[in-house]
Amino acid sequence: MGKQPAVWVTGASSGIGKSIALLFAEQGVKVIATSRDHAALEKYLAEKNQNIFAYPADVTDLNEIKKTFEKISGSFFIKALINNAGVTSFKPVSELTDGETEKIISTNLTGAINLTRFVLPGMIEAGEGKIINILSVASEKIFKNSAVYSASKAGLSAFAKVLREEVREHSIRVVNIYPGAVRTPIWPSDILEQHADKMMSPDDVAKVVYDVYNEKSNLVQEEIVLRPVSGDLKI
Ligand SMILES: NC(=O)c1ccc[n+]([C@@H]2O[C@H](COP(=O)([O-])OP(=O)(O)OC[C@H]3O[C@@H](n4cnc5c(N)ncnc54)[C@H](OP(=O)(O)O)[C@@H]3O)[C@@H](O)[C@H]2O)c1
Repeated sequence: MGKQPAVWVTGASSGIGKSIALLFAEQGVKVIATSRDHAALEKYLAEKNQNIFAYPADVTDLNEIKKTFEKISGSFFIKALINNAGVTSFKPVSELTDGETEKIISTNLTGAINLTRFVLPGMIEAGEGKIINILSVASEKIFKNSAVYSASKAGLSAFAKVLREEVREHSIRVVNIYPGAVRTPIWPSDILEQHADKMMSPDDVAKVVYDVYNEKSNLVQEEIVLRPVSGDLKI
């Protein structure tokens, strides 16, 4: 039997990634769901839908993601990669501690670049593919206490814009999605409690991602901004 086409969702154990994995799987798409917390992937995803295949993979660990990719590649062809894994810390630059910058950059930026690197040759060979990056409105708009996070997202946005031009000739679509506030555990609990009703739902974001993935015409929405109707949070 040939390899099965699948969509790789990073950071699938929680929040937006979990909603994406579940929605895609419900639609009959085979989903490779990765994050560091394998137990959560199994419990919330793989047990719920047989289209979901859970693998532990820390995107900051180059060897681990290389091995995971090799394992996955034995059975699946990755037709879309959704770079969603992300972390942040809400504090001013003057209060950053050793290692915090590296953690955010290596998760949100370097990790996504490396995964993209791994899946691209297969997509180029197939003459099709989709790279969908979950970025943030913070890559362009100024939010205090998010300098490194903003840098990581702006960096990935710039990377993807160059990549897009390089892979057009192979019919590979590169899509950058920039959400505003979404109701997920990435936010500190006090902010979530106070502002949850003004945030978007991760399931609604997942629907947009699915529509982008499912677009079959000669059309690609390359840059997509998503905001709550009431606008950005005032915190
Ligand atoms: N929520 C928002 O308001 C918002 C707005 C704009 C953009 N975003 C972006 O949306 C994406 C998803 O965030 P979320 O809001 O859904 O947050 P979340 O609920 O905290 O989910 C983050 C996911 O990333 C995974 N992750 C973190 N570090 C990882 C690593 N080193 N390797 C592999 N996976 C890792 C986590 O899983 P493990 O802990 O199991 O590894 C988790 O599944 C992020 O890129 C975030 O920047 C969020």
